[in-house]
This record gives sequence, C-alpha cells and structure tokens, in this order.
Amino acid sequence: MERPERRLPVAFLLLLPLLSVSCVSNPRTIVSWCVLSDAEEQKCLDLAGNATSQNIRGTLQCVRGLNTRDCIDKIKNGTADAASMTADDIYAAGLCHGLELAAGESHNRVDGISYYVVAMARRSSSDLSLLEMHERSSCHPGIRTTVGWTVPIGYLVNTSQISVGEQCNFPRAVGNFFGYSCVPGVKDPRHDPRGNNPKNLCEACIGDENDRHICASNHRERHYGEAGALRCVAENLGDVAFVKHTTVFDNLDGKNQESWALDLELEDLKLLCPDGTEAGLDEYERCHLAAVPANAVVVRMEDKCRVWKYLERLQNVFGNATEGFSLFSSAGYGESDLLFSDATHHLQRVLGSYTSWLGPTYTTMLQAFECEGFC
Ligand SMILES: *[C@@H]1O[C@H](CO)[C@@H](O)[C@H](O)[C@H]1NC(C)=O
Ligand SMILES: *[C@@H]1O[C@H](CO)[C@@H](O)[C@H](O)[C@H]1NC(C)=O
Ligand SMILES: *[C@@H]1O[C@H](CO)[C@@H](O)[C@H](O)[C@H]1NC(C)=O
Ligand SMILES: *[C@@H]1O[C@H](CO)[C@@H](O)[C@H](O)[C@H]1NC(C)=O
Repeated sequence: MERPERRLPVAFLLLLPLLSVSCVSNPRTIVSWCVLSDAEEQKCLDLAGNATSQNIRGTLQCVRGLNTRDCIDKIKNGTADAASMTADDIYAAGLCHGLELAAGESHNRVDGISYYVVAMARRSSSDLSLLEMHERSSCHPGIRTTVGWTVPIGYLVNTSQISVGEQCNFPRAVGNFFGYSCVPGVKDPRHDPRGNNPKNLCEACIGDENDRHICASNHRERHYGEAGALRCVAENLGDVAFVKHTTVFDNLDGKNQESWALDLELEDLKLLCPDGTEAGLDEYERCHLAAVPANAVVVRMEDKCRVWKYLERLQNVFGNATEGFSLFSSAGYGESDLLFSDATHHLQRVLGSYTSWLGPTYTTMLQAFECEGFC
C-alpha cells in the first residue's frame, strides 16, 4: 500500500520545471566559474572585466579548479557556481552528485548534439550486420574514448551481444567477442594493470613504419584515433570502424594526404545501423549508435535559472561580437575551447534534467558500464 506522504516529492518534482520557468533574475547575482588552466582563467577574467564595463547586470568571478572532479566538488559545496563540462562528466555530476544543467552549447543552431558515433564498413563487405558482430574484426580510436569504446561497447552490451558477467571485465569480454581488433591503449599499464587484457585487441594495430609502438595510445600507432580507425577499415584489417559521422569527410577529397586516404573514395564505404541494416554515409542522422551531446554548464539545482539568466545577458552582448571580447572564441589565449567550445553557435537553456540533455541513446550507453562503479 502506498502511503500518501510518498507522493509529495513526486508532485514537488513535477512543479520544479514550472518554478524555474517563472524565475526572476537577480541583478546583484554573482556567478563564480570554475576554470582549469591559466589560459581559461585569463579568458574568464577578460569576460568579467568586459561584462562590468558594458554594465551587464551581475558579477562574474573566476575560481581555479585542479580538474573536473575538483570543479564538481566545488560546485557541490558552493565554492564555485558553474563550469562547462563534457557529456561523460555531466553524467557523473548528475548521477553521483545531484548537479544539474543551466545551459548547453548548440553547434549547429538547431540542437545540442555535438556529433554522432557511427559504425563504418567497406561497401564490399556483404553479410555484415551490427547485430551479428561475433568473431568479426573491429577498429577503435582508443580505449576508454567515447567514440571508440563507451558507445560501441555500450551498444554491444545493450543488444546482449556481449556480457561482462560479475567480474565486470570489459576488455576480456570484448576480446572474447571480436575475432581481432585494434583498440589503441588497451595494453597500457594504466588500462591493464595486471597485464592480462586480451592480445587480440591489438592484432589489427600496425604501429609505426618500423613496427614499433604497436597498440600505443598515441599517433605513433597509425591506427590510433578516428582517422586511424578509418584507415584500419580502408586497409582491410577491420570489418568495422567506430568513428564520428564527420571523420570520413574530414579525411577524403585531399584533406588527408596520406596514401590510404588518397586511395579511398566515399563510394567505397557505408554505415552499419544499430537495427542490423545499412545506409549511405550521409544518413548518419537516422543510422548511428549514439548522438553525443555537446558540452553544457553544470550548476546546483537551485541555480539553474539564475545562471541561465546571467549567461543569456552575456551571450546577448558577447555571443555575436565582431569586435572586442568574443564569448565563443579562444583566439589570443594560446589554447582552444576555453570556457566554451569554439564551435559553439549559441547557448541554449536546459529546462529539463541533465538526462534530457544527454538524451536516451547516450544515457543507455553509459548505463552499460554501471558495474564498474561509476561514482
Ligand atoms: C576585454 O577583453 C579583451 C580581450 O578580448 C581584453 O584584452 C580586455 O582587457 C578586456 N577588458 C576588460 C575591461 O577586462
Ligand atoms: C569545497 O570543496 C573543495 C574541493 O573539494 C575544497 O577545496 C574546499 O575546501 C571545500 N570548501 C568548503 C567550504 O567546504
Ligand atoms: C547571433 O546572431 C544571429 C543572427 O542575428 C542569431 O540567430 C543568433 O542567435 C545570435 N547569437 C547569439 C549568441 O546571440
Ligand atoms: C537497447 O536495447 C533495447 C532492447 O534490446 C532496445 O529497445 C533499445 O533501443 C536499445 N537502446 C539503444 C540505445 O540501442
């Protein structure tokens, strides 16, 4: 039997979005931003100075954090109010620390998607289906990367093709599943402290010109990264490469002068869809393993509205600046993607919870790793 008091929190939760819609902005608001580098701190201080000199209501302060985890702790205990974070960190901040989002980046003017993770294969590979990948060979940009590990392995777990069992040993399960693969970094001590990750996860790797650095987690391994994973499929070492929807377009038509790329044509490739069908390279919007959300601004629940209102004022003045301080540019600071991604077109308000920003497919992929003890 359900006790009536139990219903109270649910009713309250339903009310919260309404409360935040009707929020009023506080002119004396102070927002302290958690920054991670000297360059980011400098851009933050310049933004604060320019905001003050343009009489934008509110005050920006810049707080130095040691790393993302430290920023999450600072936001939680009130030492900082906000910081921009990647999708994986948003998941940790929300799930493990109860934090929420005030705003997210839009790169394409329309939505908050940063890129799609797709499965790419040679068109000549017939009888290939993402639902039957057992004993196949695969090319991954790197161990523990969103594109090369979290999303494809999350997909294989969700479709019950692999199961990690009680030991929660992902590399072992993946090694048993695929025939051979290239997962750069899988044998690095950092990811393989006992040295028993399966060798076949490096067998589609080629190392450098002198056969050294095989399976290295850097560009000396020529199958490392998204371009490397594409090369691995182009060279027929893998049946499938897990890459971004943009990877192929970034490396063809002379944009990559390496011979494997010059020899490759768009017509040689196809996408494999999660339902087991296939599609053309430009059909990534319907044929992808996950839509990975862009970075978003992590805040405490009660600050969702206040921080959004302040960011809205900032982007109205500095979001489109053709001269003076520019919110979505890091030019002149010596690093890229400071405070926000340089690819940001505008910031959009996040009214729902952090899971609404992460989206169902991406959240499902992350949930597959629950047994690793995410928090
Ligand atoms: C405004 O930003 C510019 C960089 O775009 C910086 O050089 C300048 O010092 C800033 N102004 C103030 C008052 O902080
Ligand atoms: C808040 O958390 C940060 C990071 O863990 C810590 O450095 C700081 O001392 C904490 N401050 C308070 C007031 O608890
Ligand atoms: C910049 O201007 C364009 C066109 O006027 C507008 O669509 C866009 O929302 C503006 N961006 C920001 C951040 O205000
Ligand atoms: C996960 O698997 C379930 C059942 O097999 C399916 O309905 C769902 O669409 C899958 N989710 C993703 C993101 O692939």
